[in-house]
Amino acid sequence: MALVEVDNLVKTYPARGSRQPRRAVDDVSFRVERGRTLGIVGESGSGKSTVARLLLRLIEPDSGAIRLDGHNLLTVSAHELRQLRRRMQIVFQDPYAALNPRMRVEEIVAEPLVIYQKELRPVPHVSNLKPGILRARNRSTMARQAQILQALRTVGLDGSALPRYPHEFSGGQRQRINLARALILRPELLVLDEPTSALDVSVSAQITHLLRELQRELHLAYVFITHSMPLARYMADEILVMRQGRIVEQGGWQQICEHPQSEYTQALLAATPELPASAP
Ligand SMILES: Nc1ncnc2c1ncn2[C@@H]1O[C@H](COP(=O)(O)OP(=O)(O)OP(=O)(O)O)[C@@H](O)[C@H]1O
Ligand SMILES: [Mg+2]
Repeated sequence: MALVEVDNLVKTYPARGSRQPRRAVDDVSFRVERGRTLGIVGESGSGKSTVARLLLRLIEPDSGAIRLDGHNLLTVSAHELRQLRRRMQIVFQDPYAALNPRMRVEEIVAEPLVIYQKELRPVPHVSNLKPGILRARNRSTMARQAQILQALRTVGLDGSALPRYPHEFSGGQRQRINLARALILRPELLVLDEPTSALDVSVSAQITHLLRELQRELHLAYVFITHSMPLARYMADEILVMRQGRIVEQGGWQQICEHPQSEYTQALLAATPELPASAP
């Protein structure tokens, strides 16, 4: 059984000036295997982010089925949904918008733990900590701080980040902080919605390289959304090409990139320049 099984997903929005609702996602089906990457590629407005939000059930589909590890997200109880949700996390495009500017990195990364482990008390305020030094007040705080630190190290940051605020970091570092937060509950699936498109080329290459390392080490499954065919080719095992809510073509990366069947995929491949030599 695949980790994620999506069948015949449909999502409509009311269309302005028309009685007919607009199909943002129209009969989309795919599988994501454990430890593998599904790339979703398509032009702006093709429905990629809508698929991402549906997958995590942040929005409700009109019809279709979404299964995680065999559990249908659309029919499980609220309690089960809560348990399933912690197994999948999302990282968005804009690392500037995604982080609360008034929260310290320590609080940002700890937030999922606080949400899912209610027994834990809030992180001690920064004034109780010497800058950069963890002074744990009790065992559960100490265990949590170790988890936060480990999540930061996993993404290439260290304890000096803990008391600082998002504005003190570059775009690439902020995306690492987002990743640390996404990873702290040890999910099996990460939905990455254009995670590098707000970054410049060399930083983007570092993040995609990190994502591949993390996948290998943590056996993560990815849904990697991009409008760039070269990036999908670098990241993905399977590629799904979308246009106007529909699947144009899907298959292994080699088949899609080297033997594209549809004119749309061919146009996408022709439109995107090769990555510069410094990129992976
Ligand atoms: N909340 C909403 N209300 C109405 N229409 C919406 C809503 N969200 C998305 N849409 C429409 O659904 C379609 C798909 O949007 P979506 O954001 O999924 O595209 P996308 O492929 O992620 O595009 P981009 O590459 O620009 O991020 C678009 O036509 C969009 O205008
Ligand atoms: Mg989008």
